[in-house]
Amino acid sequence: ATATTSSLPFAGKKVLVSAGPTYEAIDPVRFIGNHSSGKMGYALAEVLQQLGAKVVLVSGPTHLPVPQGVYTIGVTSANEMLEACKQEFETADITIMSAAVADYTPQQVASQKIKKDEESLVLALTKTTDILATLGKLKKPPQLLIGFALETNNEQVNAQHKLEKKNLDFIVLNSMQDKGAGFAGDTNKITIIDRNGEQQSFPLKTKKEVAQDICDYIVKKLHDQ
Ligand code: CTP
Ligand code: CA
Repeated sequence: ATATTSSLPFAGKKVLVSAGPTYEAIDPVRFIGNHSSGKMGYALAEVLQQLGAKVVLVSGPTHLPVPQGVYTIGVTSANEMLEACKQEFETADITIMSAAVADYTPQQVASQKIKKDEESLVLALTKTTDILATLGKLKKPPQLLIGFALETNNEQVNAQHKLEKKNLDFIVLNSMQDKGAGFAGDTNKITIIDRNGEQQSFPLKTKKEVAQDICDYIVKKLHDQ
């Protein structure tokens, strides 16, 4: 018999990652979206896979190639992302939600293309289900749940509030205060805020390096468990 032990830090772990934007249909040819590139989530999926994890990537529409060896589920809307994430979360050891999920979706999707008949148009929107908060309610220890927070102001307080409200183990605050950090670019400046009160700030780095830092932090938490 051959032993199949692995020294990789995520060997035997299933990790669920959400990435990218969601598109909320207005009519057959239009949607509400956002500028998320998906790069942060894809970088996480790639690094986790290289560190031995079984990675499931639930991705909204992006222009990125599917990472090698990563099981990728493509979704379009917030509701589709919710269903895929709920399904995969049950058997996930670690979950990282980096997707930029739409907060509101059209109350109804017009069955035909909306014509420009009127001088003004008001779209009625309803709030989407918070995927991360939903998973936070389903979480059973030792499952780890990690979120992101994108803030433009009052960032520490807002991120801390999300950490608690969504029952997370830690939250990755994406600082928009530095040029080069944020949605579409290749770099991010993050602060990790842990539910245990620990806080760690990192310098501006590439999204690949940021993914590495987040993975290192998770490995440390796995050792502490
Ligand atoms: N999130 C989610 N489902 C939603 C909205 C957000 O899973 N419907 C997740 C994001 O993937 C992210 C975290 O929640 O990990 C925080 O998202 P963010 O947009 O920063 O915060 P919100 O809770 O949506 O609050 P707001 O946009 O009002 O700041
Ligand atoms: Ca939001």
